[in-house]
Amino acid sequence: MKRVDDFRLQLGKHELVPIMIGGMGVDISTADLALEAARLGGVGHISDAMIKTVTDRRYQTKFVKEKLALYKSSVATDDKTAVKFDLGKIEEATRLHVAHAMERKTGSGMIFVNCMEKLTMNAPRETLRVRMRAALDAGIDGITLAAGLHLGSFGLIEDHPRFRDAKLGIIVSSVRALQIFLKKSARTNRLPDYVVVEGPLAGGHLGFGMDWAQYDLATIVVEVLKYLKDENLSIPVIPAGGIFTGSDAVGFLESGASAVQVATRFTVARECGLPANVQQYYFTANEDDIVVNEISPTGYPMRMIKSSPAIGDGIRPNCEAYGYLLDANGKCAYVTAYNREVEAHPGARKVKVMDKTCLCTHMRNFDLWTCGQLTYRLRDTTHRLADGGYQLLSAEHVFKDYQFSTDNQIALPERQEA
Ligand SMILES: Cc1cc2nc3c(=O)[nH]c(=O)nc-3n(C[C@H](O)[C@H](O)[C@H](O)COP(=O)(O)O)c2cc1C
Repeated sequence: MKRVDDFRLQLGKHELVPIMIGGMGVDISTADLALEAARLGGVGHISDAMIKTVTDRRYQTKFVKEKLALYKSSVATDDKTAVKFDLGKIEEATRLHVAHAMERKTGSGMIFVNCMEKLTMNAPRETLRVRMRAALDAGIDGITLAAGLHLGSFGLIEDHPRFRDAKLGIIVSSVRALQIFLKKSARTNRLPDYVVVEGPLAGGHLGFGMDWAQYDLATIVVEVLKYLKDENLSIPVIPAGGIFTGSDAVGFLESGASAVQVATRFTVARECGLPANVQQYYFTANEDDIVVNEISPTGYPMRMIKSSPAIGDGIRPNCEAYGYLLDANGKCAYVTAYNREVEAHPGARKVKVMDKTCLCTHMRNFDLWTCGQLTYRLRDTTHRLADGGYQLLSAEHVFKDYQFSTDNQIALPERQEA
């Protein structure tokens, strides 16, 4: 019986354990988590989502305070067009985060950065360009293009000295999205080094509509593999979404995938950025506690735990401090929804906003508990402790369980208390 360790992911001259820990925004996939994946010979992701907030928390910078001070006057207005990011500061923050991770890297694996196009930051092209270039400057091993079609993204870095040596990949949820990306990027004369095919059971934002349940990862992977074969393109395909055991992964590897991308099982690892009390909500979630809804202002459906404090919360938008979802015209669907509720309830001290959420603030505060569909199985991956809580895992334990387990088994960690 095969196990994941019988396979290897070849990326250029690099031979890797075919396990990639997916990017989880706003420092849920921390540098510590990514470093463990690299140490163990796989691929880990950091994320550049809300990078200034992350560096403020980790490296005592003051980016958020500075931005808020600069734009304080527009807090009370609806018009956020003037609330711009200072490109030099984004560059500085990205370099800091990436360099700090890369300096500490050990092992034969790699560290990539997850770069979401939907973080439009009131100047989509300019900010994305700086984010990617700063990550390359700071020595990141690769960039995974996420949450968007990224039709112009290769073009934004094609003149960078590392454009051909860094590993560049894209996440797609359909063969069609891949076709369009390849067509639009052909001009740069460079293929992606890998394609992550993310199915409907993944965490975070989904590349499907609210009819997500009608899609199936295995079917999309077969379509992508066939398309690449027909086109004579040799690009590693990496399925993601609902791959919960080593045996699930082997199934994909045996049918032509080159690696798997996984995330949910690592949300309850000690190295993960979620606060320990929030991790207990992940352990205790039942299947019907997990919903896909449309409250993300990005316009993509998003999966989360129903009891997330973010749902329905009508806090005042915080674009002056954050503003990562302001579109090219300075608009965010949450700001519009919030203003509508304030207008409808004059004099109310606090409003409820059910249809959208202030994603920046709530992701920053770990109040929006996005998760994969199989989160309800996490409790089966560990021990229940005497105090009723669940024992956190080490990233190494989870990684090795994927790497070496067979027969759909999940190895439990060593028990930490009697
Ligand atoms: C808590 C959480 C946060 C996530 N955030 C992001 C993100 O910021 N960007 C992204 O491209 N994917 C994100 N994802 C998707 C994962 O990177 C990964 O592709 C997917 O969840 C894999 O499926 P699995 O969780 O069932 O293993 C997130 C997933 C989880 C569980």
